[in-house]
Amino acid sequence: MKSADAGVRLKSRFLTIVLVPTILLLIGASAWMQVDLSGFWVFRVPTGDGNFRETFFELKQDGETITGKVLAGGREVAITEGTFKNGTLQFVVIFGTAPQTRRVVYEGTLAGEKITLTSQAPGREPFKGTAERTKPEAALPPPRLPLPDLHDVQDNGLARTPPMGWNSWNKFAGKVDDSVVRSIADAMVSSGMKQAGYVYVNIDDTWEGPRDAQGNITSNLKFPDMKALADYVHSKGLKIGIYSSPGPKTCAGYEGSYGHEEQDAKTFAAWGIDYLKYDWCSASRIYKNEDMQASYQKMGDALRKAGRPMVFSLCQYGIGDVWKWGPRVGGNLWRTTGDISDNWKSLERIGFRQMEIASYTNVGHWNDPDMLEIGNGGMTADEYRTHMSLWALLAAPLLAGNDLRAMSDETKSILMNSEVIAVDQDADGKPARRISDAEATSVVIVRPLHDGSVAIGLFNRADQAQEISVTWEALGLSGKKLLARDLWKRTNVQLPTGSYQPVVPSHGVVLLKVSTTR
Ligand code: GLA
Repeated sequence: MKSADAGVRLKSRFLTIVLVPTILLLIGASAWMQVDLSGFWVFRVPTGDGNFRETFFELKQDGETITGKVLAGGREVAITEGTFKNGTLQFVVIFGTAPQTRRVVYEGTLAGEKITLTSQAPGREPFKGTAERTKPEAALPPPRLPLPDLHDVQDNGLARTPPMGWNSWNKFAGKVDDSVVRSIADAMVSSGMKQAGYVYVNIDDTWEGPRDAQGNITSNLKFPDMKALADYVHSKGLKIGIYSSPGPKTCAGYEGSYGHEEQDAKTFAAWGIDYLKYDWCSASRIYKNEDMQASYQKMGDALRKAGRPMVFSLCQYGIGDVWKWGPRVGGNLWRTTGDISDNWKSLERIGFRQMEIASYTNVGHWNDPDMLEIGNGGMTADEYRTHMSLWALLAAPLLAGNDLRAMSDETKSILMNSEVIAVDQDADGKPARRISDAEATSVVIVRPLHDGSVAIGLFNRADQAQEISVTWEALGLSGKKLLARDLWKRTNVQLPTGSYQPVVPSHGVVLLKVSTTR
């Protein structure tokens, strides 16, 4: 009996341990086998401010193999290494082009009609969200709206010298919120930045919320009350800037002004906004480069109509020779390049490639080689002095991009050097020119100033210190008695006759202001 009992027990054990799970697994597997993930999906990741970042997939399932593509910002990128096994979806997408590729791994499980999904790029926080089925049209941009005929937008009379202030993007990107902006405004005053001339506190991308029932743009959870924030910034004697796009979405995927230009300009005016950066972004999915002028003109007109003076900053990365038509659409400044980053390579690439278009700068209309990285930690003090000196010689906007609440004395001394700022802010707005060879590692740039003096930058692009020479003849100053000031050492300099050739540190600069005397 005992052994018979044991046999029964063994059987029932076998049933529970082996058979039941196997049967369940088979039922489960057959359930997954019936599921075909083929079709369009939208992957929605909450951004934490009430918005969602959306990515579209077109999946094709063949047995356990998944192929297809990811549709991101008008680009289609193939899915590789895709499988769907036992309810688990996995695939890889290689974004970018070699050598700058980013391998993103997507992994998730199907529950009912939804996939709980995570995307993971190397060295980044994973994005967690949900994918749901959608229609192919959802991945497409809205239909093209007609653009107005070209005409000249009247000059708004603002930004008679290059705008000075701060912008949130370089340091804070998506982490900017109401309290950051308030504390930056406080720091702009307490650090002496305001005194030095910095006045605009500019909120870049990621402030936007959804549109209300009337189509009015709202701010998201990070910015509970834009008008109150503007009032606060104004109460400090400062001005406030905001950001939008002529496209339906901004570059970070937030709500743009497409089809709502006048309405948004009115909203910005009602909030008390003083400055708009208008970033092309997703407009490229609807319009061609040739349409840019009309598209920017639309907002230029809308700003004029809104009845509040607002600096108009065009951001379309220098496409279509914007410096030729920027003023005609009411622009006060226009980006001439792609985005800057906080490293020497980026600074060098952008900063020294501005000379050919330097002559398009004039009072009220400025080339914008992008915001400052000074104080963000990726460059040496010499490199940051080069950054500041170049921007000053180019009459570029001085929009600090660092955390003004925590500046080292060195950073302060660079951003707040009043003699360098005075070069940037010179009333005549005359362009600089390079008098050295374009390919040389020693670069000499000169800019005539209002008081008859000339600012001279001696830049060293080489990886070791070198002497850089400037002759008075090249400047038309030979035979004259010269007075010179070293704007970084903040001392007067005795200039030798004929030429001057100081040793300039690697990636550094000697910035002089030279005037003639009797
Ligand atoms: C673009 C701009 C940047 C910044 C981001 C925000 O890349 O060039 O300056 O505004 O968008 O998304």
